[in-house]
Amino acid sequence: MIQIGQTHISLEHREIRSHGESVRLGSRAFDILELLIAAQGALVSKEAIMRRVWPDTIVEENNLQVHVATIRKALGADRDRIVTVPGRGYRMTGVTMAGSSAPVDPGECALVTHWSNTHNLPLHMSALVGRQGTVADVLDAIEPAQIVTLVGSGGIGKTRLAVEAARRMLPRFPDGVVFVSLAPVSDPQFALDALATALGMKMSSCGLSLAHIAHEMRGKRLLIVLDNCEHVVDAAAAMAEVLAAAGDGMRVLATSREALRARDEVVYPVPSLEVPSPENPSDDVLQTSAVQLFLSRARAADPQFSSDERSIFLIGEVCRHLDGIPLAIELAAARAAVLGIEVLAARLDDRLRILSGGCRTALPRHQTLKATLDWSYRLLDESERAILRWLGMFVDAFTFDSACHVGAQLGLTKADVMNALGGLVSKSLVIRADCSTSPRYRLLETTRAYALQQLDDNGERGGAALAHAKSFCERFRRTQHDPAITSLHDGLADFTRELGNVRAALDWAFSATGDQIVGVELASIAVPYLFDLSLVDECRSRARVALDADVSTLPVEVRLRLTTSLAAVRALMGDPEAKIATADDEDCRPACIGA
Ligand SMILES: Nc1ncnc2c1ncn2[C@@H]1O[C@H](COP(=O)(O)OP(=O)(O)OP(=O)(O)O)[C@@H](O)[C@H]1O
Ligand SMILES: [Mg+2]
Repeated sequence: MIQIGQTHISLEHREIRSHGESVRLGSRAFDILELLIAAQGALVSKEAIMRRVWPDTIVEENNLQVHVATIRKALGADRDRIVTVPGRGYRMTGVTMAGSSAPVDPGECALVTHWSNTHNLPLHMSALVGRQGTVADVLDAIEPAQIVTLVGSGGIGKTRLAVEAARRMLPRFPDGVVFVSLAPVSDPQFALDALATALGMKMSSCGLSLAHIAHEMRGKRLLIVLDNCEHVVDAAAAMAEVLAAAGDGMRVLATSREALRARDEVVYPVPSLEVPSPENPSDDVLQTSAVQLFLSRARAADPQFSSDERSIFLIGEVCRHLDGIPLAIELAAARAAVLGIEVLAARLDDRLRILSGGCRTALPRHQTLKATLDWSYRLLDESERAILRWLGMFVDAFTFDSACHVGAQLGLTKADVMNALGGLVSKSLVIRADCSTSPRYRLLETTRAYALQQLDDNGERGGAALAHAKSFCERFRRTQHDPAITSLHDGLADFTRELGNVRAALDWAFSATGDQIVGVELASIAVPYLFDLSLVDECRSRARVALDADVSTLPVEVRLRLTTSLAAVRALMGDPEAKIATADDEDCRPACIGA
């Protein structure tokens, strides 16, 4: 416990007590206070404070002044212990260990000196929510592996997790933990400068080679965190390999939206936060980390934020629709604090527009959901961009074959689609939806909303919707004649997996901008399956819509399938006319004649 006059400060619990009363201090102000204490009376320059407390953001100097004023207020009668050194910075006087009149001894205050001397991890991060198991996994992974990369989509929490894991590993690395932020590096050739600067090495006029840096690292027990490698992935891979080779005590923990593909790299896919289950949304909603994060952010913005049963239910829904992505949840919570959770939940379809207005000091790419995705989208090649946009039409998971069908409309061969899909998976924009031998893929909801927006911006929505619908016509036409699919059960199982996509395709086909010819064909394939699945009402209404469609020539086989299903539904519903209807119904007649 640190003592400043009548004020006691616990650095461990980040708590201040003045005259026995707990005093609130924001996290950045506390970071500044911690730096001043660590300096043990020495001057701390304004630049040093700003670099440390706002490492990725350029802030105006008056921000610093405001925070120092807040600290002074918290110190009350001891406010003058913070001395302003005009034009240069601040220093803190009269800091002692509690119960002693001696000034803070660096040895006694190990936490302080340790923090200031052997790591440069960002100090200002808010408390980690959930993730206990995940942090433990990362700690376990980095023991035997020299390079571990945390991979996942934008805003999933890679950096936050890496910082937490690194912080917990401080005792394991006596030579320190060095955080290298690569996000601001605009060109791969400057990645090395970022590393050298973080290591405190001066760049000579002729530059500094990676080999030279590695030489300096020999025999050290050092953890290097390479943060946000995706846009300089080759340079980051080279750095990671050379640093790891510098000695057994070296470890590299990287974060990236894409694996580095460095030698001996262990890739750790960062999962989403837990969300309430859709089957039983009321079960332990408050125990899920996504809901806890939402509530903590909403309450920080509005201490009166409602947490009645209905609000908690809606928060659970919102978190699930945001796929448990922490950044999206933070943005949603900030919006909910202003709009109310009912309005936010109702407008979530428009998430790219509504989820903006993040924290002013957040990274620019984290201020809106769209900016986060723009960052990933910019790193794709043309084929990857195109296929990502068109895959946005799939409301559910899809197969490689479906992706190929859609890709073919874009002029992409199977090999092109394989490469593009592989690229999208490795860049965390498409995820494997299952682990079976014939895998299915899907886009996270937020990525999908972005893909659809890009389709609209490129004027491609109609073409993509048509390709999506046609892919199912073709797929099920093939299934019906596929000798490998022998049982009705297999065909039905396949259809059931695609039900969400088929419904979306049918809805589009019979909409004002759709294509009724494709719609009728798809409906004729779908309605017998709907009947077999006992989705009787849907079977009837889909068949009816298709038969009423304004299509001049309806192939006999198509009409027959629709009318047969319709008649079967009527019979099932106990319609006494049903039998006659199959033979005499208007709908049936051409089919019977044609047959
Ligand atoms: N477990 C968590 N508890 C609290 N906040 C979290 C957690 N995980 C992430 N966050 C917050 O969510 C936001 C996004 O997290 P983070 O910056 O780690 O994402 P990222 O995966 O590194 O994104 P990017 O790919 O853009 O770098 C940050 O504001 C972060 O503090
Ligand atoms: Mg990051």
